[in-house]
Amino acid sequence: MTRTLKVFEKVILGCFLLLAISGRTLAQSDLITNIPARETISLNGKWQYIVDPYETGYYDYRYKERRENDGEAYWNNPVQKDKTDRKEHAYTDEYTLEVPGDWNSQDPKFLYYEGSVWYKRTFDFDKSDLNSKRVFLHFGGANYQTDVYLNGKKLGMHKGGFTSFNFEVPASVLKEKDNFLVVRVDNKRAKDEVPTVNTDWWNYGGVTRDVNLVVVPDNFIQNYFVQLKRPAPGTAPKTKNTEVQGWVKLSKAAAGETVTIEIPELKYKKSFPVTNGTADLNFKLPKVQLWSTDTPKLYNVVISSKSDRVEEKIGFRTIEAHGKQVLLNGQPVFLRGISVHEEIPQEIRRAHSKKDAAQLLGWAKELNANMVRLAHYPHNEHTTRLADSLGILVWSEIPVYWTIDFGNQEVFEKAKKQLDEMIARDQNRASIIIWSVGNETPVSPVRTEFMRNLIEEAKEQDPTRLISAALEVHYNEGKNTIDDPLGQYTDLVSVNEYLGWYGGLPNTNRTAVWETKYDKPLFFSETGAGALGGFHADSLTRFSEEFQEWYYKEQVAMMKRMPDNYVGLSPWIIADFRSPKRNNQVYQEGWNRKGLISSDGKKKKAFWVLKSYYDEMDEVKSAKPKASSK
Ligand code: GCU
Repeated sequence: MTRTLKVFEKVILGCFLLLAISGRTLAQSDLITNIPARETISLNGKWQYIVDPYETGYYDYRYKERRENDGEAYWNNPVQKDKTDRKEHAYTDEYTLEVPGDWNSQDPKFLYYEGSVWYKRTFDFDKSDLNSKRVFLHFGGANYQTDVYLNGKKLGMHKGGFTSFNFEVPASVLKEKDNFLVVRVDNKRAKDEVPTVNTDWWNYGGVTRDVNLVVVPDNFIQNYFVQLKRPAPGTAPKTKNTEVQGWVKLSKAAAGETVTIEIPELKYKKSFPVTNGTADLNFKLPKVQLWSTDTPKLYNVVISSKSDRVEEKIGFRTIEAHGKQVLLNGQPVFLRGISVHEEIPQEIRRAHSKKDAAQLLGWAKELNANMVRLAHYPHNEHTTRLADSLGILVWSEIPVYWTIDFGNQEVFEKAKKQLDEMIARDQNRASIIIWSVGNETPVSPVRTEFMRNLIEEAKEQDPTRLISAALEVHYNEGKNTIDDPLGQYTDLVSVNEYLGWYGGLPNTNRTAVWETKYDKPLFFSETGAGALGGFHADSLTRFSEEFQEWYYKEQVAMMKRMPDNYVGLSPWIIADFRSPKRNNQVYQEGWNRKGLISSDGKKKKAFWVLKSYYDEMDEVKSAKPKASSK
């Protein structure tokens, strides 16, 4: 007997459905990866804006959150009905910002601005061939909290300044003409955010990375992980019958689906069954040229399902920490690194484009670096993709930086979400060998537990890469002991050291002794000294190029005396960068001057000291020419 729902039950069910729909539009959608391979409509360009330091667009005069249809909410289109109509906000072409781009560098009034800015643009959309397709709004990144509204309807909210995110655009909200898209970005710092209120970098705000509409089939390829299986510890991966592990995730769990992996250059093609929306991949490649820093070989990998097809260039390699060494494809590798902030110093702005990535990684190449530490947050995708092509190893990091609120479970969830978003976007980048869960966090039981759980999460998400963090060092009478409890959980022990800059003078390095409590590879994730480019004096004069040059000479000499678990360094930093903490108005003026390259793009004397050390450490470059047989 069919039980007809009583009216009351129908009403309740209807309410739940409405909530579910609204909840769906409010929920951030699972990240759609490999955007360059998708059908996209770019929304980059000039957006109109309103600066809103008092959150007037979000709260009414009683500071109550405005209702969705409140005409004075900044997410609603302020069309003046007639000349008598009062509008307390308006968007005009007199006030525009370039997207992508931080706002700080686009107008002097934004230099120190921390608060909300409402961005607005309109767009048309051809809905004619939308049947059985879905539309998403994808952001490469925006700092820090982003609230997105389309035609007055809220699509969702994202927190985190450096990871990609997307929201679905319901067909019922999307119009053919004049879609009114409003994005509020709020870059205010807060104690219970990630990062917290205290950072040694500029709090650039805004829609700092690319924005796209993404059109995908109803059941599309959401994300995938295609990497080499970790070989037995210490062994090199085979170049024949190389084992690939991973998965492909579809957006829906449709019965009987399969996915196909094709690598044309290797004449490889195989289909895999999908169970509950995911296909597990375990297959062997007939033969493969491994990706390495000297031969950054990338293969075109085609992934297809019944209704979707994406392709991507993927490199195949293995990375391991084995005993005291880091092994790339089973061979010990010395990490000739350099730290990099995501900033173009000459234009005092966030880097966001392919051209910007080419400048920053080009500088690393000029240094003869084979690795970059992308500090202290995930950089834009152009950079990690270019690192794949250039054969530059990457340390990628979430901004769990200094004094995070470690005792707060919500803060842990925020950090974990940023970690998951970082890995989800870049897990197929061969260049990325290290996920870092933080930097210089003060030792305490609650902090170590917080970080240990992040390490667990990273290993869960990606069993193929090394996990690290910049740990703390004990300094006492020239003996530097690395016994940070977090070191028991990381794959390599990384520390930032500034002997001769924050402690004593560079000659103190001559008697420095290092010891690691852990039988693991030791990596110097930072070392550096400040110099104002172009300021010359004797080497004892702080902030002169000669002081910085002396510092690097002493550091290199010390590195040559390191114990046998020393596997490399990523000195701080490739170029001067903006920081509100650097207020020596003679030498800094709001710049951290530890760059090897000055804020106007000129190499300082210390650049050449590090380069000659890297040339020496570069086996290929320093290989003695073979004695001629004559
Ligand atoms: C720290 C920190 C960096 C900072 C650097 C410095 O190690 O990790 O973010 O900029 O020191 O003092 O310059």
